[in-house]
Amino acid sequence: MSKLWGGRFDGATHSLMEALGESVSFDARLAPWDIRASRAHAKMLAATGIISEEDGLAIDRGLAEIAEEVAAGTISWDSTLEDVHGNIEALLIGKIGDAGKKLHTARSRNDQIATDMRLWARDQVDAIDQALHRLQQAILDFAEKNAEVVIPGYTHLQPAQPVLFAHHMMAYFEMFSRDRERFRQLRKRINVMPLGSAALAGTPHPIDREQVAHALDFDTLSANSMDAVSDRDYLIEFCSCASLVMMHLSRWSEEIILWNSPPFSFILLGDEFTTGSSIMPQKKNPDAAELTRGKAARVFADHQALLVLLKGLPLTYNRDLQEDKEPVFHASDTVQLCLAVFAAMIPTIRLRREVMEKAVGDGFMEATDLADHLVEKGVPFREAHHIVGEAVRYCIEQGKSLTALSLEEFQRFYPDMDESVFNALDIVTILARRSQPGATSPVQVRAALKAARARLSE
Ligand code: ARG
Repeated sequence: MSKLWGGRFDGATHSLMEALGESVSFDARLAPWDIRASRAHAKMLAATGIISEEDGLAIDRGLAEIAEEVAAGTISWDSTLEDVHGNIEALLIGKIGDAGKKLHTARSRNDQIATDMRLWARDQVDAIDQALHRLQQAILDFAEKNAEVVIPGYTHLQPAQPVLFAHHMMAYFEMFSRDRERFRQLRKRINVMPLGSAALAGTPHPIDREQVAHALDFDTLSANSMDAVSDRDYLIEFCSCASLVMMHLSRWSEEIILWNSPPFSFILLGDEFTTGSSIMPQKKNPDAAELTRGKAARVFADHQALLVLLKGLPLTYNRDLQEDKEPVFHASDTVQLCLAVFAAMIPTIRLRREVMEKAVGDGFMEATDLADHLVEKGVPFREAHHIVGEAVRYCIEQGKSLTALSLEEFQRFYPDMDESVFNALDIVTILARRSQPGATSPVQVRAALKAARARLSE
């Protein structure tokens, strides 16, 4: 095999250098975007008279055929041709002969790969947005289906105050709304076209960058060719946005794992997303949630890998940049897989309402409301807090809940207590009174569900 682009060399490439240098084993997936960009570039070369119209047409035809073969999966990628770009150029020359040798006029693999990656990333951002949308849909359906269920809300993993289950679920809806917003903002920064920067300094050929940008749906042209070929900020941001999604999924996973565990027993996971144990026949393990929690670690590592990859690089292109692909591909694939898993898993979850309801009765979660009741009777909050603390201690000693105390017992701690205390501690009252925007009253939660529906159909 003669050396690739080897005019200035006497010797062949060492097989170890080939093993180290090839990227087609992982960048072949960029072929659809590479071909799309090349076709736009070739059309522009012909339109500006840099190549003949005839050559332009031949290139376009050849690339269209290669695109079909890529889609059919019939191409055998050759690692001695280094990367997806070398492979496609060789295939093209094999198909159309000399005209194919003109495609690389006025460009470099440096602006080519930068363009391919932006086109690819833009499509991934759109796919992730759809996956997030589908998950939000699943959350909303799940929340609406269980709209009247009450569960303990926790702080420090201690029962804190009762909340509507739907309110708890909609907290995740908000997280994924922010994730979508972050990706949408990133999309604008991705959608800048580097093509035309050539190796680093631009090209003397009379190219028309605007035409190519228009054909590829880029919003703007990169303003500095040196920055354009070496910038990977958008991939770091992509991994950062993906990390936040994974962090959200991982927190939720943790809750699902806890809620599914026997001490909680709040939920039953569907068989579709649980697995058996090879030794313990009784087990039904929440593996989908555990694996998502585990995969979050690796997506965070992808983000870290890119930051470290870039931090020492002088301008402009350095071959190190080839190593950007595997982390960002992994981050993208993982986040899309986990989002799809969650959207499919959530509807399989069944709530054990009786366990949840019992848990709402335990843990003295009415304590804050009792203090607030005293405040309404004119007791300063700090004093009310102390009085209720004493009442709780009494309950613990007596093995009683706050709601089981008689009026006489309440009066031991606050002599002016009257019958209205029972209504104040009723779960219906407790929830209904949290009626400020963003709080857990049924009225507010219903409004939040309705608003979320409207947001989703925007
Ligand atoms: N496979 C290379 C990469 O991903 C393409 C760019 C190669 N450029 C170069 N000057 N060797 O970075």
